[in-house]
Amino acid sequence: MTSRKGIILAGGLGKRLAPITSAISKQLIPVYDKPMIYYSLSTLMLCGIKDILIITTPDNQSNFKQLLGDGNRWGMNFSYAIQQKPEGIAQSILIAEKFISDKSVAIALGDNIFHGNDLVKLLRSADSRSVGGTIFAYPVRDPERYGVVQFDQSGNVVGIEEKPKEPTSRYAITGLYFYDNTVIERAKELNFSARCELEITDLNRKYLIDQLLKVEIMGRGMAWLDTGTIESLQDASLYIRTLEHRQGLKVGCPEEIAWRQGWINDDQLEQLAADLMISGYGEYLEKLLKLEDRKSLSSFHPG
Ligand code: G1P
Repeated sequence: MTSRKGIILAGGLGKRLAPITSAISKQLIPVYDKPMIYYSLSTLMLCGIKDILIITTPDNQSNFKQLLGDGNRWGMNFSYAIQQKPEGIAQSILIAEKFISDKSVAIALGDNIFHGNDLVKLLRSADSRSVGGTIFAYPVRDPERYGVVQFDQSGNVVGIEEKPKEPTSRYAITGLYFYDNTVIERAKELNFSARCELEITDLNRKYLIDQLLKVEIMGRGMAWLDTGTIESLQDASLYIRTLEHRQGLKVGCPEEIAWRQGWINDDQLEQLAADLMISGYGEYLEKLLKLEDRKSLSSFHPG
C-alpha cells in the first residue's frame, strides 16, 4: 500500500463535446457502460492509492459527490475541491496543497483512459520512485495536440513542449503524472502561459532541468484512449465494449479493483452488486465472487 495521494482533475468545460457537456461534466458522461471518471479512478486505484481528491468546476461538484460519495463503500477516502476557472492542470497542485501535505502525489486527468497488460507494472514502478517526477509518453499520429517529448540521437529526453506546431517526435505526454513532495514548491514558481494556464508541461520542465524527470514510454501494446471529441469518445466506448464482450471482464471497474485490492470484502461486494442489479453491472460484480481465479492478481485487468 502506497502512502501517495491521488488527484483527479475533472475541471474543464468540455466545450468540444457540446451540447452533451452543456449541462453535465465531461468526466461524468459514459464511456460504454460507466462514467468516464471511473477509468482514471481505476488507474489510481491500481497503483494502490486510496486517498483521492476530486477537483471539479463549481457547478458540477454536487454531481460527482452524488456519484462517488466519500469513498467509504469502496474502502477508500474521497475529498472534493473546486477549480474556479480552467486555469491549467498544474493549478491542481496549488488547490490540493493542504491535501497533499507532506506526501508524494499522482495526478490523473479525469478524461484519460489507460489499458494494457503492462499498466500495473508501470504504475507500481512510478510509485516506487520516491524522488522526482514520472510522466508517460505514448506514440500517437497527431502529437501536435498534446505535450510532446523531444529526444536526442541517443534517445535521451532533452525537452518537452506543449502542443508544438512542429513536433519533434511522435511521443505525446499522457495525462498521468507522479511527483514527489517538491511539486508544491515547483508549482508555486509557475507563471501563467499565453493561454492563461498554469501549464503541466512547464512544471514537468522544471523536473527535467533538475534531471529529476523520468519519462516512461508506454509501448504500442498499451492503449491510451482519447475522449476529447465525439469520434474519439465513440472509439473509446467501442474499444471498451469489444474487450468486455470478448473476455467477460470489465475494464475500469472500481468496485472490482477495491475488492481485488482487499479494500472491501466479499460481503461488501455483494452489497454493492445488489444495489446495481437492474443494469447488469451488479450481475457482473456478483459473478466475480464465483470466478475460478477470483482473487488472483494475474487476472487483474488494468483499468
Ligand atoms: C493536457 C496537457 C498536455 C497533455 C494532455 C493529455 O492537454 O496540457 O500536455 O498531453 O493534457 O491529455 P489539454 O487537455 O490542455 O489539451
